[in-house]
Amino acid sequence: MKTRAAILWEQGQDWSVEEIDLDPPQSGEVLVKLAGSGLCHSDEHVRTGDMVVPQETADMLGLKQFPMIGGHEGAGEVVEVGPGVTTLAPGDHVVLGFIPACGKCPSCAKGQSNLCDFGAFLLAGRQISDFTARHHSASGEDLGTMCLLGTFGEHTVVNEASCIKIENDIPLDKAALVGCGVTTGWGSATYAAEVQPGETVVVVGAGGIGVNAIQGAAMAGARHIVAVDPIEFKREQAMVFGATHTASSIEEATALVGEITWGANADKAIITIGVGDGNLIAPVMGLTAKGGRVVHTSVAPMEENEVQLNLFDLTLQQKQLVGSIFGSANPRYDIPRLLRMYQEGKLKLDELVTREYDLADINKGYDDMNDGNNIRGFVRY
Ligand SMILES: NC(=O)c1ccc[n+]([C@@H]2O[C@H](COP(=O)([O-])OP(=O)(O)OC[C@H]3O[C@@H](n4cnc5c(N)ncnc54)[C@H](O)[C@@H]3O)[C@@H](O)[C@H]2O)c1
Ligand SMILES: [Zn+2]
Ligand SMILES: [Zn+2]
Repeated sequence: MKTRAAILWEQGQDWSVEEIDLDPPQSGEVLVKLAGSGLCHSDEHVRTGDMVVPQETADMLGLKQFPMIGGHEGAGEVVEVGPGVTTLAPGDHVVLGFIPACGKCPSCAKGQSNLCDFGAFLLAGRQISDFTARHHSASGEDLGTMCLLGTFGEHTVVNEASCIKIENDIPLDKAALVGCGVTTGWGSATYAAEVQPGETVVVVGAGGIGVNAIQGAAMAGARHIVAVDPIEFKREQAMVFGATHTASSIEEATALVGEITWGANADKAIITIGVGDGNLIAPVMGLTAKGGRVVHTSVAPMEENEVQLNLFDLTLQQKQLVGSIFGSANPRYDIPRLLRMYQEGKLKLDELVTREYDLADINKGYDDMNDGNNIRGFVRY
């Protein structure tokens, strides 16, 4: 079939919205008609080169990241299923998880499906069923898909393992946001930071991921939630999601946290800035209490190895620094659970999207993200 999608032909270029050819779903795959896609910062990391597989590695693995259809935060309706698909049927509503969950690998079996072995193929650009492409440009070139999804298109073919079935009465545009940002932020607070009632939590970077870390911390019963962001609009929105205090810089937050905790400092800190920065680790560890934990959720440039970290402080104050992907959550369990909370008025999703765009204006959407105008931008089909 023909459909429209935003393609990144090469690192550094703009998204190009073009008509593409989409093959029918093959073994274990489904064709999904998407309702829309959130504009997460991670697609921008691919465009800028932070998240581009180095050429030698790509050659060694026989992997082709570009040209690639972007987008990994979507939801839609199953239109057709390929041979062997047993858990989905046409008409089912699904959220697309940005990491597939096979249900069989050691990580899935252990209850850590965000670390599913299929994650190894996230940037490989081909279907996990047989390593060929279903998406092709008008000129006949095979197209990869961001996180095996490619939600910057009206239709896509994905593996059954990427689909999380949800109730049909949940609005798909809201459900889409839970495919990455909501679950990642919320889980960064509830699972990765394990925020406890009465704790003081600092969230650094109040974008799409950060505000969800804030609402996760609030839901877990945090006493103080300090949102740190240089942009006033983000600090205002942080309060809507449950922040109790705001600061425009780490220095300001350090003084504030010292004051409100009588010098005890923050129990937990969660880093959700747009581009991970090794220089930020030492100051954030510095405003964290002894026995405290810093969660790093931001994506940093792939080849960045430099980190400022005081090892004396780490050891003698028994602090923890941990990474987290997909909020350390189990998407097939947590996504329906989060959506139930939305339906019952306990999780904020309506407040997340600042602006909507047509697919043709996707580059404007990313300009707005980079200019700090949006909590989340959303492309509606
Ligand atoms: N670990 C995961 O599974 C996962 C999943 C999704 C996104 N991410 C990453 O999370 C990060 C945030 O994504 P997003 O979509 O929310 O991005 P965003 O651009 O919407 O938000 C980032 C926010 O950080 C703020 N910021 C930038 N520098 C700052 C600084 N030095 N101090 C304080 N605030 C600062 C910006 O003003 C902005 O509000 C990105 O790196 C993204 O790739 C990680
Ligand atoms: Zn994302
Ligand atoms: Zn698995």
